[in-house]
Amino acid sequence: MALLAEITHRCPLQCPYCSNPVELARTAAEMGTGEWLRLIDEAASLGILQIHFSGGEPMARSDLPRLVRHARAAGLYTNLITSGVLLDRERLEALTEAGIDHVQISIQDTDPANADKISAYPNGLVKKRAAALLVHEAGLALTINAVVHRQNLDRLHEMIAFAEAVGAERIEVAHVQYYGWALKNRDYLMPTIDQLEAATALVEAERRRLGGRLVIDYVIPDYYARRPKACMGGWGRRFINVSPTGNVLPCHAAETIPNLTFANLRERSLAEIWENDPAFAAFRGTDWMPAACRACDRREIDWGGCRCQALALTGDAAAMDPACDRSDLHGSLFALAQKAAGGEPVIRAYRRIGVK
Ligand code: FES
Repeated sequence: MALLAEITHRCPLQCPYCSNPVELARTAAEMGTGEWLRLIDEAASLGILQIHFSGGEPMARSDLPRLVRHARAAGLYTNLITSGVLLDRERLEALTEAGIDHVQISIQDTDPANADKISAYPNGLVKKRAAALLVHEAGLALTINAVVHRQNLDRLHEMIAFAEAVGAERIEVAHVQYYGWALKNRDYLMPTIDQLEAATALVEAERRRLGGRLVIDYVIPDYYARRPKACMGGWGRRFINVSPTGNVLPCHAAETIPNLTFANLRERSLAEIWENDPAFAAFRGTDWMPAACRACDRREIDWGGCRCQALALTGDAAAMDPACDRSDLHGSLFALAQKAAGGEPVIRAYRRIGVK
């Protein structure tokens, strides 16, 4: 269904929960324009419907309009996933002219000082608001992506108001996922159970008030959930991630799984990788599951949850996801969340190239 093209790991922001791998790709290793154009053609031939241009910050690449134009010509729905800080009128016009369909702008907080602190980038909120208004004025579909955690969850009401004020159709209230960078900063980021309950009640009230005028996507964070999320809609079922260097992955965090190796587009075609690559086959379907999951009536609903989280929490990517209340480790996950939520509020690692 969808391909996430991480065209660069370069980014002016340094958020301590970034979903990129801890080992970031340097500029010289990125695929060139011709290689991305070939990937787009292969994606269209494979029947992929949507392409999400992401990063890092995809606006850091000057060939982005060319890639968007090519994707549109190939019949793909095009989405730009951006921080918004590099999106001015001129660059938006180039993207609109190239045929971009949808723009998603992330925000760190509605408190400017805290937004600056989280992103390690000065005055970002002002730029993001201006960029979001430009997208709305251009008549493009707009989503605000609010990544929430203990340091900003008390301002969720203001974040929803921000999305409403800039004319977004949708806001994703995305709880931080604890792998990679966020795992390093878990004590800083983990919300308290009281914050979570207040946020969940607020989302329900706001959905009633907004009546669908602004759609709110909201999922309970895994550490406090009873059921695991169907991560990526199931491993190797609907989603392909391509890293800046051309590695083809079943999810954005798959490279954290040490015993898997990933094929590269410089050596094999996308179709061949999708159909035959052992890394895609590793957790596809239900055969790989532990016996209890294979026998579970939800096995084709949650698809075993998240493999990267199972690895981060148990050391084994094939283990039952502890987010599931049928896991023996489920109780200890809740205790872990409560301990982290009382942890020292210190950013231990900003996301930077060359830092591990
Ligand atoms: Fe990799 Fe969930 S992020 S399977």
